[in-house]
Amino acid sequence: MDGSTSPPAQLDQLDEFKTLFDHLSSILSLQMREQFANDKNRFKQYSLQAAGLNLDYSKNRINQTTIKLLCKLACARDLPKAIQAMFNGEHINKSENRPALHTALRNYSGESILVDGKDVMPGVQNTLNRMKEFCWSIRSQQWRGFSNKPFTDVVSIGIGGSYLGPRLASQSLKPYWSKQINCHYLANIDGSDLTEVLQGLNPETTLFIVQSKSFNTQETLKNASACREWFLHNGGSQADLARHFSAVTANVAKAKEFGIAGQNIFPMWDWVGGRYSLWSAIGLPLMLTIGYEHFREMLLGAYEMDCHFKTAPLEQNMPVLMGLLGIWYVSFFNAQSHAVLPYDHYLQGLPAHIQQLDMESNGKSVDIYGRTLNYQAGPIIWGGVGSNGQHAYHQLLHQGTQFAPCDFIMPLTSHNPVDHFHALLASNCFSQSQALMQGKSLQQAQAELKEQGKSEEEINIIAPQKEIPGNIPSNTLYFDKSTPKAVGALIALYEHKVFVQGQIWGVNSFDQWGVELGKQLGDKVHECLLAESCMGEKMGFDDSTSGLIKAFRAMQDKL
Ligand code: F6P
Repeated sequence: MDGSTSPPAQLDQLDEFKTLFDHLSSILSLQMREQFANDKNRFKQYSLQAAGLNLDYSKNRINQTTIKLLCKLACARDLPKAIQAMFNGEHINKSENRPALHTALRNYSGESILVDGKDVMPGVQNTLNRMKEFCWSIRSQQWRGFSNKPFTDVVSIGIGGSYLGPRLASQSLKPYWSKQINCHYLANIDGSDLTEVLQGLNPETTLFIVQSKSFNTQETLKNASACREWFLHNGGSQADLARHFSAVTANVAKAKEFGIAGQNIFPMWDWVGGRYSLWSAIGLPLMLTIGYEHFREMLLGAYEMDCHFKTAPLEQNMPVLMGLLGIWYVSFFNAQSHAVLPYDHYLQGLPAHIQQLDMESNGKSVDIYGRTLNYQAGPIIWGGVGSNGQHAYHQLLHQGTQFAPCDFIMPLTSHNPVDHFHALLASNCFSQSQALMQGKSLQQAQAELKEQGKSEEEINIIAPQKEIPGNIPSNTLYFDKSTPKAVGALIALYEHKVFVQGQIWGVNSFDQWGVELGKQLGDKVHECLLAESCMGEKMGFDDSTSGLIKAFRAMQDKL
């Protein structure tokens, strides 16, 4: 924003926001079970298809007026223009003055995309071709280890977006893994993670990929160094590093300094955020395990979702509707969290990926003009695989004081059909959203207990504990099968949902300054933990940090 123009009104100052607040009271008095009773067409009316995905958003606290008012709010925040700006490579990441162009990595339109006047597509395509050749040479066993054995294991060393995205996609697409290559993900600066990953690996047949956009992340560099030492102490030589170590980074110089051969370094661009980088060479471990063709299908699924997002009218736009519904609950119903509940064993890592995608993007409290937000934004994302969650946290969803909207995710067919298991899994998924919506009245609970022959006294004690308020909203995303295409479309859907919310809340969804302080303070604490004598007081630590440092050092002295 230059000095001449004043920033636009904040979201809660807009007439469209105020109109929605007025509308809220009419919605709060509505019971979804009554809306379903009065409208036999509700499922069809609030269903949407895009990029092979189906969205049932009928179990939401909405009516047609709600959708219209939410879309008006989106227009008041220039959402259509913002969507085009993102795809066109404008510098929408204001604080870092760069584009957010992860969509270019899956751009199958054949059109060029200019960043600062330069077409980025040749570089994207060239990197994809290099990835394809790299994976082919390893999977065809042409590229072998230092003792001329084919590779059997790849260790992907990275954290955050250099870990969660590829690990999720890899886990989600396990049915497509080649039997030849095992994929391991090493992220944490916990010796147990390193030890567990290296356990049983053969340095002769292990390939390491150091995944780090900055090539400056403490955990990743420490783990990469430890893996290099392990390799050199178990038969590998300096000369062999070129065969066994590669890197994906925007900082090629630092990767070479680490000792990785130039031809094994794959570029990342500064206009791809870490949590949006699965589609880049960060996806290399995934491509190694599922092959180029399946990786390409995943890109295509994401591309189809991009096309939908770019062209569909707001009221028929899946990422827009999911984003607006999330804003309806967070900024108007004051929801603190949102649950992502995949009813698919292979998609169990999806909540963790969406946690970073959503919370590192929109977990902010000032807008792009530096103004403190006067409204709730950025929910806590949590969740886990169904039906397991029903035996863990669904109690809170059904009867807790927290208001937690849910996304249920259900492939309609399984990679592993066993008896009627998939029908049972689906019945759990569908009935959970049904129960959240319709609940159980006190009268129903009382009648049930009477039917069971309970005494009056027992009914008076138990019935109130069995009442379930209901009216908890949920979306159900369903699709034929967890294929590479479906997984690509699903992840792109959530990327765009997060973008929609960030644009409307007015935050920058593509920077993450909040993580810097912890890293800075960590260096000082680390220095004190290892110093000859504890300098806690001298380094100005608070009493708690000093106390914790002393406790750690005391334990170390005992070892
Ligand atoms: O958590 C901060 C962060 O920068 C993430 O945004 C990123 O995905 C992660 O650390 C790893 O960063 P890099 O890929 O640069 O090692």
